[in-house]
Amino acid sequence: MKITSSVTRNSMLAIALVCVLCVGTYARPEKPTGEVTVMEKRYKTWLKQHGKTYKSRDEWNMRFGIYQSNLKFIGFVNAQNLSYTLTDNEFADMTNFEFQTTYLGYKSHGRRRRPRNQQHSYKVGNDAVPFSIDWREKGAVTSIKNQDSCGSCWAFSAVGAVEGINQIKTGKLVSLSPQELVDCNFGFDNRGCRGGLMSKAYEFMMLNGGISSEEDYPYKGRQGICNPITARKIAASITGYVQIPERNETAMRSAVARQPISAAIDASAAELQLYSGGVFTGACGKRLNHGVVVVGYGEEEGVEHWIVKNSWGVGWGDEGYLKLQRGSSDERGVCGIAMDGSYPVKDF
Ligand SMILES: *[C@@H]1O[C@H](CO)[C@@H](O)[C@H](O)[C@H]1NC(C)=O
Ligand SMILES: *[C@@H]1O[C@H](CO)[C@@H](O)[C@H](O)[C@H]1NC(C)=O
Repeated sequence: MKITSSVTRNSMLAIALVCVLCVGTYARPEKPTGEVTVMEKRYKTWLKQHGKTYKSRDEWNMRFGIYQSNLKFIGFVNAQNLSYTLTDNEFADMTNFEFQTTYLGYKSHGRRRRPRNQQHSYKVGNDAVPFSIDWREKGAVTSIKNQDSCGSCWAFSAVGAVEGINQIKTGKLVSLSPQELVDCNFGFDNRGCRGGLMSKAYEFMMLNGGISSEEDYPYKGRQGICNPITARKIAASITGYVQIPERNETAMRSAVARQPISAAIDASAAELQLYSGGVFTGACGKRLNHGVVVVGYGEEEGVEHWIVKNSWGVGWGDEGYLKLQRGSSDERGVCGIAMDGSYPVKDF
């Protein structure tokens, strides 16, 4: 499945509006009563906080309606005293559909097209696997990045895992360039802001001799023309990659014990759109549509979790991170996290 962003912004709004009218999920702005005035004030503060403006009055009203409906949903979920909470983050005046079409961007392999060029196969280490690990504490994780409204999560996922193994092997933490992948790794599978695969990104880095630093090839959040000169300024290289056996969180844990890895999840749930912290145990699908980096695992109040680095900025989630329940009774893992894990290999 491919999440495309070929829908233009205007038609997206039109579709969102149709949803408002037909499904009635989202409240239409009401006549100003006392409550609405309080709401309006809150929305205006929120708009200011997130630096958003809407020129047309119609769009403002529509956004305000969506915001109010999301607030109700947030209140409803938070009142249940779950292990996680929601908040009115920067995505709070977007419909869930709009959110899905804008911020995801992992293209599933499908059954018949597993990667063939991985060269290395998964091996179980003999080392005891620690109870918990957090690669952030070991200096192998760069600060949270922001893909903006570009479906380039696959590039951030691959880059995050390579930053990890590069730090582990060289002792140097270098922020690497997702933009190089967006611009230069454009082909059949990887389509820049329209989605891609981490395995293909690894293959590109192997063929290219490595990848540039974020500093040399900075992020723009839109499809650009590959700059071959900058693309040859190599800041980190890999020698291969490994696909983690799927549907096996034990195998995934052994891998994460050794290095940060790439994984794919279904991030389309409204609860993930508005997630603000805690261990996410909520309902989510298994239709993989978002690439992330798993940078550790642990346990909180008896609930085992993965530490997931996202690429939606620090304003989303727990300072940009997500704790996702681990050890699910469903072997595919919560949100499908155990279905497509992989990691880069660096032999020299
Ligand atoms: C909320 O959950 C915590 C732990 O899960 C529990 O100790 C507490 O009693 C709960 N509070 C309510 C009001 O249900
Ligand atoms: C999961 O992977 C581990 C190795 O990490 C292996 O011992 C175990 O048999 C695997 N489980 C299944 C169900 O394949």
